[in-house]
Amino acid sequence: TMVDTRTDIPKTPTLPDAQTVTEVTHWTDRLFSFRVTRPASLRFRSGEFVMIGLMGDPDPKTGKQKPLLRAYSIASPSWDEELEFYSIKVQDGPLTSRLQHIRPGDQIILRPKPVGTLVHDALLPGRRLWFFATGTGIAPFASLIRDPQTYEDYDKIILTHTCREVKDLEYGRQLVETVRSDEMLRELIGDGLDKLVYYPTTTREESPRMGRITDLLRDGTVFRDLGIEDFGPETDRAMVCGSMGLNLDIKEILESHGLREGANSDPKEYVVEKAFVG
Ligand code: A2P
Repeated sequence: TMVDTRTDIPKTPTLPDAQTVTEVTHWTDRLFSFRVTRPASLRFRSGEFVMIGLMGDPDPKTGKQKPLLRAYSIASPSWDEELEFYSIKVQDGPLTSRLQHIRPGDQIILRPKPVGTLVHDALLPGRRLWFFATGTGIAPFASLIRDPQTYEDYDKIILTHTCREVKDLEYGRQLVETVRSDEMLRELIGDGLDKLVYYPTTTREESPRMGRITDLLRDGTVFRDLGIEDFGPETDRAMVCGSMGLNLDIKEILESHGLREGANSDPKEYVVEKAFVG
């Protein structure tokens, strides 16, 4: 991976809601993560998203520029002094074709209004918390697995991540490794970190566990691998973030086990959000 760290970071914003890029990491030719300065007043709950983007091209008639914004889950925890995001690169994507070229010192637009359903408040108390992600859908869980509340509220946290190839898992793999070994996090979270189970799968390249998470749930492989009996509405809670297909398929599996979809105003057993960009 290629890590670009902060160089000369200009102090004067030149855009409304501007934040400065502090670090960019390119994971594959289609995936990158970046960190930006955090507005002093920004409070958010782990799992929420914000609108971020760049100034669009000038309108050919008026010459006016409008911001080009997309929803991005905040991947960093709420105690972090910077904000982290994880993104796909789409070569003809209006935003990501340009966003993939940001460097430390550049500015992006960040609307400081965090929202979203993948928050602890949207779930009733339970014993096990499942995070189901495909692709960049791991971003909100990157925040939640660094949040002390996750370990205070549950006995076991299971993060599943399904990607096409092994290299697509690397951001999540390193994140989990850091979470497990980082001294500062250990101090913050305590022995709770031992409760974190990481379950990566690939669908188009050989790896220790192959297949879509949905198929591995339906045929019982996940439960056998983890030594768990099954889902139950008394014990299990889930947050889902991936492609439309994953979201619908997991919903069906969870509903068939008696889990119901919750919301901020009406907490239940699981919540869903689509992975936004790409
Ligand atoms: P697959 O390779 O079988 O399509 P993408 O790169 O298209 O966003 O997909 C990311 C990962 O999500 C891939 O491993 C893909 O598997 C998987 N995936 C796509 N749709 C579903 C689904 N409905 N249920 C589970 N996994 C899915």
